[in-house]
Amino acid sequence: MSKYYINAAGRKSRINKEIYGHFSEHLGRCIYEGLYVGEDSEIPNVNGMRTDVVEALKEIKVPVLRWPGGCFADEYHWKDGIGPKETRKKMINTHWGGVVEDNSFGTHEFMELCRQLGCETYVNGNVGSGTVQEMSEWVEYMTFEGVSPMADLRAKNGHPEPWKVDFFGVGNENWGCGGNMTPEYYGNLYRRYQTYVRQYNADQPITRIACGPNSGDTEWTKGLLKTLFRNSEPQWHGFADGMSLHYYTIPGSWNHKGSATEFTTEEYYLTLTKALDMENLINRHGAIMDQYDPEKKIGMIVDEWGNWFDVEPGTNPGFLYQQNTMRDALVAALTLNIFNKHSDRVKMACIAQMVNVLQSVILTDGPRMIKTPTWHVFNMFKDHQDADLVESSIETGLVGEGDYKVPNLTESASVDAEGRLQITIGNLSLTEDCPVETSIVGFAGKKACACILRGAMDAKNTFEEPDAVQSEEYKVELTDGGLSFTVPACSIVKITVEE
Ligand code: AHR
Repeated sequence: MSKYYINAAGRKSRINKEIYGHFSEHLGRCIYEGLYVGEDSEIPNVNGMRTDVVEALKEIKVPVLRWPGGCFADEYHWKDGIGPKETRKKMINTHWGGVVEDNSFGTHEFMELCRQLGCETYVNGNVGSGTVQEMSEWVEYMTFEGVSPMADLRAKNGHPEPWKVDFFGVGNENWGCGGNMTPEYYGNLYRRYQTYVRQYNADQPITRIACGPNSGDTEWTKGLLKTLFRNSEPQWHGFADGMSLHYYTIPGSWNHKGSATEFTTEEYYLTLTKALDMENLINRHGAIMDQYDPEKKIGMIVDEWGNWFDVEPGTNPGFLYQQNTMRDALVAALTLNIFNKHSDRVKMACIAQMVNVLQSVILTDGPRMIKTPTWHVFNMFKDHQDADLVESSIETGLVGEGDYKVPNLTESASVDAEGRLQITIGNLSLTEDCPVETSIVGFAGKKACACILRGAMDAKNTFEEPDAVQSEEYKVELTDGGLSFTVPACSIVKITVEE
């Protein structure tokens, strides 16, 4: 039995809804087929965006979408993707699978997708192979209202009104695929490029995001922040509003990452051990950020995270298509709980990637679509969006196999705008159910409801059995001063308590 303590009056940081963000890249079947099928497709669509996928994404309240990459971003020249589709450049997507990129999905289509999803826009600019002028003109094209060459071009292309760009990334992985730079060199480029990410609308500021480290590369964080803060007025906080962090959970080696669906119990625990590293990374990079930015004005933006396994047998290795199981669900749950707990610094996160690539919430096959176990986790956690994190702690024991031991339980709790207490708790053990006695202070719970996602560690949804893994109602009991319930092995429970 585990004791669980929640102080609902102990309000901590706001859990930005953007922590539940997503990432879409011109990679494999993410954009083409997954999100965009074109107006002439037989698959039901609105302005080319497939209706089933948009509906499923709206259900989980996607708050923000990052595009066009990833590594693709630093090879993307936005002018190739505007104007009449028949005249747009066709080219090879050299980075991802060597297939033809016909640029039929460009800026207008991305903005239309975000309109349909009702989400914020996060556009990633090209520093690696693009110019300052190109980036500056893209921002002008998207956001300037008035007479200007780019605003006129936008109008000529059918959209006189400017769009709202909520977030703008100045380059992607510039330590690697985005130009193989040193932190100091990139830091100087960042200072220069961001100068021309103009804020045309005072009431709609663009949040500028600098390319941060890969995984545990603290030397990048140190070199970058030193460069950004050099001669920066304190109120400019290093010319940046956010710094990215990329971390993928890879249980094997780079060349043999491991199968998404066929794995041993030891590999299951190994995967969770690696996923839990996210917390160390936030702490380590956060400590460096604290030296420059103790008031935490610069957000840590974990804009690529998730499990990365070998591609499904028989699929294009450059497409990064992988299935999704209860193991992915547990990784999503523990990671989102970590982000919630660190929401004083982590201001946005984007799972990689939304559809058909890596740890996706949706998989498609022609006209068919399935919601993955990870989709169900995002659906269960969505009530944390914009809620206040509250103090909570749970007694845990270690579970696992061999060298791979993890705490059995992961949790976070928040109070949402309607005053409801939202609790998400996962049991990482594959064998032991865990009864939980919860003491709640600062909250007089009168009504509680819950749902659960459970299954074998490798349980998955397939096109033949799309609902093999899905959440269902679950019973929890209100007690004098708290709650009593059991979290079964390999499951995630979401509880809502009302006063
Ligand atoms: O998500 C796949 C790739 O992983 C992205 O393009 C890149 O940013 C990262 O290395």
